[in-house]
Formats: sequence, structure tokens, C-alpha cells
Amino acid sequence: MCGIVGYIGRRDVAPLLLEGLQRLEYRGYDSAGIVVNSPKSGALKMVKAKGRVRDLEARVPKRFAGTTGIAHTRWATHGAPSDINSHPHLDPENKVAVVHNGIVDNAAELRAKLEAEGVVFASETDTEVITHLIARSQAESLEEKVREALKVIEGTYGIAVMHADFADRIVVARNGSPVILGIGEKEMLVASDVAALIAHTRQVVTLNDGEMATLKADDFRTYTTSGTTTNATPETVEWEAASYDMGGHDTYMHKEISEQPDAVDRVLRGRIDDRFNTVHLGGLNLDPREARAIRRVKILGCGTSYHAGLIGASLIEGMARIPADAEPASEFRYRNPVVDPDTLYIAVSQSGETYDVLAAVQELKRKGARVLGVVNVVGSAIAREADGGVYVHAGPEVCVVSTKCFTNTVVAFALLAVHLGRIRDLSVTDGKRIIEGLRKLPAQIQEILEQEEDIKKLAAQYADAKSMMFIGRVRGYPVALEASLKLKEISYIHAEAYPASELKHGPLALIEPSLPTVAIVPDDDLLEKNRAALEEIKARSGRILAVAHREQEKADHTIVVPKNEDELDPILMGIPLQLLAYHTALALGRDIDKPRNLAKSVTVE
Ligand code: F6R
Repeated sequence: MCGIVGYIGRRDVAPLLLEGLQRLEYRGYDSAGIVVNSPKSGALKMVKAKGRVRDLEARVPKRFAGTTGIAHTRWATHGAPSDINSHPHLDPENKVAVVHNGIVDNAAELRAKLEAEGVVFASETDTEVITHLIARSQAESLEEKVREALKVIEGTYGIAVMHADFADRIVVARNGSPVILGIGEKEMLVASDVAALIAHTRQVVTLNDGEMATLKADDFRTYTTSGTTTNATPETVEWEAASYDMGGHDTYMHKEISEQPDAVDRVLRGRIDDRFNTVHLGGLNLDPREARAIRRVKILGCGTSYHAGLIGASLIEGMARIPADAEPASEFRYRNPVVDPDTLYIAVSQSGETYDVLAAVQELKRKGARVLGVVNVVGSAIAREADGGVYVHAGPEVCVVSTKCFTNTVVAFALLAVHLGRIRDLSVTDGKRIIEGLRKLPAQIQEILEQEEDIKKLAAQYADAKSMMFIGRVRGYPVALEASLKLKEISYIHAEAYPASELKHGPLALIEPSLPTVAIVPDDDLLEKNRAALEEIKARSGRILAVAHREQEKADHTIVVPKNEDELDPILMGIPLQLLAYHTALALGRDIDKPRNLAKSVTVE
């Protein structure tokens, strides 16, 4: 969703900010804008455009010099996508410029109050309220003006502010929306995502909620919204700028699917303890006594992360013998759930920013629950709010739809399940069996990726479908759910996922030659049951594509994947279906990395 990038230093700022905005494009947006301050007069110059960053770039005049600037990609919340509603927002005297991620909850009330005082609004946005509040403040310093404005604002924000009368600084603040400072040599940057900073510096400071910062070209200062100095020290970002590039692939999605053997290797690295056939998870903050006292596990996430959580729940229940289930975080937080002190809550989020998940975590913590995070982005809001957790170490995921993060999240759950299991009921032999299985995953994923050409041919045969059915049983059902989500997100083909056992309770009515079914058919104790479902479909002349450990006679096509331990099979069975979705979308000419209407981090309700 919305993105912020800002710079103060000696370089020509506009190209640098535009390049930063391009790095944020993957998050999803509908308009963009930029403000720079004129090196001589200090006057603010602004350009905004509905559409892509390249539309904004086309509007930036040749003479647009400046060495300080802020820029933004907007995802509309208050007010439709338009030039006017794009950020930055300036006051009528063109002195104050604000870019904002998040939502001002009391914007309507503040707007009415300001209008009653004679303020004329240019846009329909909630953000413009912040601009006017800052511009009207009588405080002496920019920091104090911003602080005064923030005092009356309710809601979430990551903001960056420039002021023509305080040309030597950018003031930024965070409450619930990421703000990351990039510390350079005689230059400072700010962004809502490391992706926009990494080409310039790997030294970063991630602001906490309630924290502000003043950036000058050769200095930065952090403090709380009430003015207490916080003295934040920079950390080094682990990833190279190249991790955010396409690396020779045509799309980020393809790159990220291909990276999975390495990504899985990374999530396993340093965590396996062969001496006790268990797993060490450094950041869990859960001692064995506490682990033994857990009576239930509740996993919360949205979309793909929820699907990973469903597999996670079955891994934990199966190995640690603790009743476990997963629920969409977006539903959980609105149903006034019973919060039980003996339940371990686990929040799953690739971005660590998803608002519904964050809100669920905050609600749980307020009620005294223990919450762990299973998160990819290090230092993200959910990772910080949680009492402990497991990083999934998938590396930066740029494509809007998740692939490698999903896989790594499931592997992280398998590690957690072994860890909890070995403290409770999982035997040494079973611990060893699962660990050996985990170690086989990278090579087995590679084997599946090598079938890409065959899967591409299959995709061409199924791309004309108007709708597709995905079925799986028990462990295979979340695989079906995730595969159907992936297909619909990027190909826009309607898809449904059902437990195979539920077919005859309704969806069988849909089966006919024009509705193909993708069936997850592992070689496990449910093989015969799954085969029976294939018979039912075949008897209704349905086309079947099976993902199985051996050719399935009843299927029109079978993608054969390598066998691992039963518990870990879902990890492998999902991989060919990522490729199937990818090649189907490619055959249909879709914008794979940026599917319509979707954003990478859903930071609003
Ligand atoms: C789908 C996808 C989304 C996200 C969901 C939660 O491919 O990526 O369904 O999984 O929006 O996002 P995170 O995991 O960042 O909390």
C-alpha cells in the first residue's frame, strides 16, 4: 500500500526520489507525487499524478532542481485516486508539505473544525488535515509544530514533513505505519520500506510507534512525540540491493518461485540440533516449562499467511499433540474471542505490517495473552509487538502474491512443531525422521522446479477454463486453498477450494467437462479416499489434474512430486501449483507482479 521516500543531502533529489518510488511500486498504489525545495529560495515545488510513477516522472519538469524532497505512492482510502488527492499535500501558502501513510480516524471532525475556522481544503483526503494543522501551529520549531498536530490526530501514521521556513530538515513521525531512516554519508533518507533505501545505504534506524526524528544532511536525531530523546542507533540491513532486483527473470514472481531451494535452506540454517533431534529457535522466548504448559495453539493470519497457518496448526497438533487451529485474523478480532491464558497465540505475516493481524496482536496483548510472531520482515510492527517468534528468512519478496514466503512460513511452522513436540510428545525417532525430511526439502523443491516446462504445457491446456476446482483432504486441503488463491489472484480465473470429502455434499453439482479439478493426492493413509474422489469426478466427465507421488489413472494429467515425510508433503505439493498459476497467468497476458486491485502490504482495515 502507500509508500514514502524522502531525502536530504547534496544530490539532485528528484531522480533519486523517483527511483525510490519505483522500488515501492510493488506494494500497490494508484497515484504518486513529489515535492522538492528549491536550493536558492527554499520554495516548495510539487508535481503529482494519478497513475504510475512513470506518469509522474513524465510530468516532472526538466528544471526541478533541489537537494531536499519527499515523495509518495498513494493507495486511495479517503477520496478517489486523482492528481489532487495524491500526496504530498501542501498548505495554501505552499510552506508545508506532508506525505502520510495510514489513516486519520478523526479526519472528518478535524476537517469540520478547520473549515469553521476558514480553512479551505484542496483535496478530499484525511492527510490534508495534518498539513493545515502544522501550517497553523504557532510553535517556533518545525518539530514542535508537528508534535502539536499529532496531539490532536487519532489514527495511524507514518509521516514526513518539509517546511519552506525550515529548509535544513525533514521531520518524520511514526504511529502504526513503518518509518525507516537511512543513514548515509552527508545525506539522510527516509522511507516506509527498506526497499527504497537499500541502493543508497544499509545503515538504518526503524522508528518505534510514538517516535519522531529530525533529519538533516549530516545528522539525525530521534525522540518521542512528547520530546524525550531516544538516541536510536543504526543497524545494518542484511540484504543487498541486488536482492530487490529481478536477477535475470522476467517477473519477480518467477524469481521468487525459483529462489525457494535457497530460501528453505536459509530458514533451516543454524536451527537444527542433531544431538537431541530437535530444533533451536533463538527468538522464541518460551522456556520448556512454559512450552509444556500450553493447552491450545491459535494461529492468526490473513490470505496466504492464514493458509500457511492452517498447515502450521496441523503440524503443531500432529507433532506436539497440542490442539491447534488457524483463523483469519480479520475475523478473529471482530468476534470478541475468549482469550485464554493457557493458549499460545501465533501471528503469521510475511510483511509484519498487515493491519488486521497487528490489531489482533494488540488486542490479545491488551488482554494479557502470550503472542508469538512468524514473520518475514525483520523489525516489522508485528515482529516488534510479539513476545517472541520465528523469522522465516525468505528474503525480500517483491511480487504482490506470496510464494517463497508461504513456503518458508510453513517450514518455520515445521521447525516450531518439532521444537514444541520434542519438549512434549514427539519421540527421538520421530524428531530425527522429520529433521531428515526437512533437510531433503531444498533438493526436492529443485527437482519440482525442473519440471517447469511440463507444467507450462499443462497450464496452456487449462488456461481456457472459466473456473477451476481445487480439492485436497486433511493436510492437502490448505494446499488446495492456497493454490486456488494463487490462481485467482494472478490469472483472474475463478477458483474454489474444497475439502475432497465435501465434494458430494454440494460442489459435485458443478462438475462437468468445462470445470477442471486440481486434486492433491499424496501417497499417505488417505490415498484410497482421495482416489475415490477422483472416481466421482471422472464419473461426471470432469477433467482432472492431479498433484501426486505417482501417476493417477483417473486423472487426465498428473504432476508427480517427490515424496517426503507425510507431515512435510504439503510443502512440496504446493510448489508445482505456484508454477501452474504463474504460467496460466502468463498465457493470459496478466500483469503478474502487480495483479489488479491488490497491494503487497494491507495496512488498512
Ligand atoms: C496472497 C498474499 C496475501 C497476503 C495477505 C497477508 O498471495 O500475499 O494473501 O498473504 O495479504 O499478508 P502478510 O503475510 O504480509 O500479513
